[in-house]
Amino acid sequence: MAEGTPLLKVTIDNITVEVPAGTTILNAARKIGGDVAPPAMCYYSKLEGSGGKCRTCLVEVSKGSEKDPRPMPKLVASCRTTVMDGMEVKNITSSKVIDARQGVVEFLLINHPLDCPICDQAGECDLQDLSYEHGKEASRYEFEKRTFHKINLGDKIQLHMTRCILCYRCVFAAEQLTQQREHGVLDRGEHAEIATYIEKNLQHDFIGNVIDVCPVGALTDKTFRFKNRVWFTKPVDAHRNCTKCCGEVRLWMRGDEVFRVTARRDEWGEVKEASNGKTGWICNECRFDKKHVSDWVIEKPTHINRHSVISQGHYEKLQKPQEFLPDLMHREPRLIMDIHNVSEVNRTNIDLSEIKGPAHSTDFNK
Ligand code: SF4
Ligand code: FES
Repeated sequence: MAEGTPLLKVTIDNITVEVPAGTTILNAARKIGGDVAPPAMCYYSKLEGSGGKCRTCLVEVSKGSEKDPRPMPKLVASCRTTVMDGMEVKNITSSKVIDARQGVVEFLLINHPLDCPICDQAGECDLQDLSYEHGKEASRYEFEKRTFHKINLGDKIQLHMTRCILCYRCVFAAEQLTQQREHGVLDRGEHAEIATYIEKNLQHDFIGNVIDVCPVGALTDKTFRFKNRVWFTKPVDAHRNCTKCCGEVRLWMRGDEVFRVTARRDEWGEVKEASNGKTGWICNECRFDKKHVSDWVIEKPTHINRHSVISQGHYEKLQKPQEFLPDLMHREPRLIMDIHNVSEVNRTNIDLSEIKGPAHSTDFNK
């Protein structure tokens, strides 16, 4: 910002903040922080051109600006709308926004499977969080969800297109980090899918970062897939001397075993700046090949938001079905079976991909 450029005043959920011209409503709200910041499934501040795809960040502009105080006629995508001086915005204080967000979540879940119990992203999935906050208990969609075969994008990344919400983040990440993009969104509408067209490998030292930017479990790390639930692992910040990247990572450990290596994330779930001030994208060698504690200098336990399921450590502490089911069903359930008693998902050393499917009625009849 040029020196002397006046700051613009914007009020979001009754809190006023001053930001430079050109700032989006979303970034102004992030400056305030907490719940005032709208959720963002496709915007990613470190990826140029991202945003404008998912509509989860909708807000109500109740006053356009000091000069033109008329409200904006429709809810706007806060990641794509810049602030004006004197603008007044409602996010969590607007019933229209809450209502619209519920609709957006319902649409996102039309095709997204509810396979959280076996999904590696469970516990750190933006869509899972969003649907807990804004989702309805039932779907009005009567047609079959679209399904795809799983595709290996090289030997380390798996694409599970069935879970993709077409946010385009991985496409921007590949384009901007690797300069040799080999994948994108093919086809349109119902048929749109992330693909390499001829199932090419994604080969580049930094391509693993597409896993970190994916807000759902559509792109997963094959070296971690089905190895552990994220809330059973302990995240620690660590570093090593790496010639390709900043070498500053987060290790997801259980005892002395390193289960997974990811980039460090900031409070918005985006890759955190490295200590040299540059973006902290990490290379494939650090991510996939350095799985021994001796490869790393451990710094400290990662600070995880206390509301996150990860900081709960184990899910027995979460609300039990007996506690919330009567409210959801509007009656006492006649029978509650614990899925873990009749399926193999919680057995140690089991490869979850080998399990034929989740438990269903016939299992309960045994
Ligand atoms: S694979 Fe993930 S990051 Fe890529 S478009 Fe789909 S949801 Fe977004
Ligand atoms: S985050 Fe704004 S439209 Fe997706």
